[in-house]
Amino acid sequence: MSLVIRDAEIVTASYRYVADVRVEGETIAAIGAELPAESGDEIVDGSDQWLIPGGIDPHVHMALPFMGTVSIDDFESGSIAAIMGGTTGMIDFVIPSKGESLLATLETWHAKAEGNAAHDYTFHMAVTDWDERIEREIPVVVREHGITSFKIFMAYKGVLGVDDEQIFHILEATRDAGAFVNVHAVNGDVQLLLADRFAESGKTGTRYHALAQPPRAEGEATGRVIDLGAVAGQQVYIVHVTCDDAVERIAAARARGEPVWGETCTQYLLLDDSLYDLPDFEGAKYVLSPPLRKKADQETLWTALATDAISVVGTDHCAFDFATQKAIGRDDFRRIPNGFMGLQERLPLLHTHGVATGRIDANRWVELCATNPAKIFGLYPRKGTIAVGSDADLVLWDPAATGRISARTHYSRCDYNVYEGFETVGAPTRVWVRGELAAADGEFTGTVGRGRFVKRAGATRAAVPTFG
Ligand code: URP
Ligand code: ZN
Ligand code: ZN
Repeated sequence: MSLVIRDAEIVTASYRYVADVRVEGETIAAIGAELPAESGDEIVDGSDQWLIPGGIDPHVHMALPFMGTVSIDDFESGSIAAIMGGTTGMIDFVIPSKGESLLATLETWHAKAEGNAAHDYTFHMAVTDWDERIEREIPVVVREHGITSFKIFMAYKGVLGVDDEQIFHILEATRDAGAFVNVHAVNGDVQLLLADRFAESGKTGTRYHALAQPPRAEGEATGRVIDLGAVAGQQVYIVHVTCDDAVERIAAARARGEPVWGETCTQYLLLDDSLYDLPDFEGAKYVLSPPLRKKADQETLWTALATDAISVVGTDHCAFDFATQKAIGRDDFRRIPNGFMGLQERLPLLHTHGVATGRIDANRWVELCATNPAKIFGLYPRKGTIAVGSDADLVLWDPAATGRISARTHYSRCDYNVYEGFETVGAPTRVWVRGELAAADGEFTGTVGRGRFVKRAGATRAAVPTFG
């Protein structure tokens, strides 16, 4: 059976226009004015609403074993939460422990995801060590498994972090394999030293989590990996950028024409570090890395979205229950599991605080949340836009709908929501996943297990010349 969505205002990264969209099976078959109906067609009236490509969240952690526990949302609850907020694609990180095989860990991730996701997904591959086996496995991951983006952590020294020599090997090996690298950029030596010094002198509260990762330590690592990328002739994508010090380095590199991308996340645009001073361990709810910053940094980030110094907004969705998981670090901030939610809230909050306030326009909102993630990570034009032949991952969006975020109504399994009480303007009224209705009027109607792993081709700007 075919579906025709009539009279919605189609909003892509480039255009806004009213038209009909015909979906046949899993893909978009036609776009045009007054498309003829055929017998058996399902007709949906989209008038007074927008039709946008489903959001793509390029930064999530489903059921991640991390800091002595496992993040509470898995591919089932995470993908349902995503759909309920207008997101129909996610990129999770396969994260091997030091000494583990990339390919063996990839199998573990496939086993976690397969049959459980309600929308499509793909993976980045983290490299947390360097040895001959990893060097051999990198091209196999790219060529045989369709994973064209890797991840390194400059933070989390001793656990996931890699040093400069290892970084340089990884930059070269991924470049030679035709892939590129995501980077968690915070100086890991400084972070570990400061965190231990605070804790050992009895400064164990949540405020010290933030003080151990000063913005300058993020800026330093950002600048360093950009420079290492330039020396290696490799493209780098800086994840979860939080502050002026990092934006400055990314903007400068892009102004020089270097293949550098920046991503920020919803929380760094809307929440600030005063939350770490909440009483009764409430600050632990907001512990993530890098930490929340000052209001002035939020302004820098909004400007960076408008100027394209930052090109993507993700979430870093990595949620931990307050009662049972965040509590692990009650006596020591170093043990609080890092991370929280965002998959369901990203599109509504960016619409509310970006589009409705005039900080960004609707095209840019789609570009930041869907089109750029698809282009940069090699999913475009199959995903991230509305075009004939693209997957029918579609969202009918009511730009005037109002709502209020609450843990009582969210689809995450977490027992709190960092955006509790936030008012929203704009909401999905219907969501389709490859042509199947997955959400309607606030109810999940999709199919757990419908989501498929998407093998990827190279990224938009992956062809970077080697210097020297
Ligand atoms: O605090 C965070 N961000 N937790 C998830 C892991 C990471 O660093 O992205
Ligand atoms: Zn990170
Ligand atoms: Zn992350």
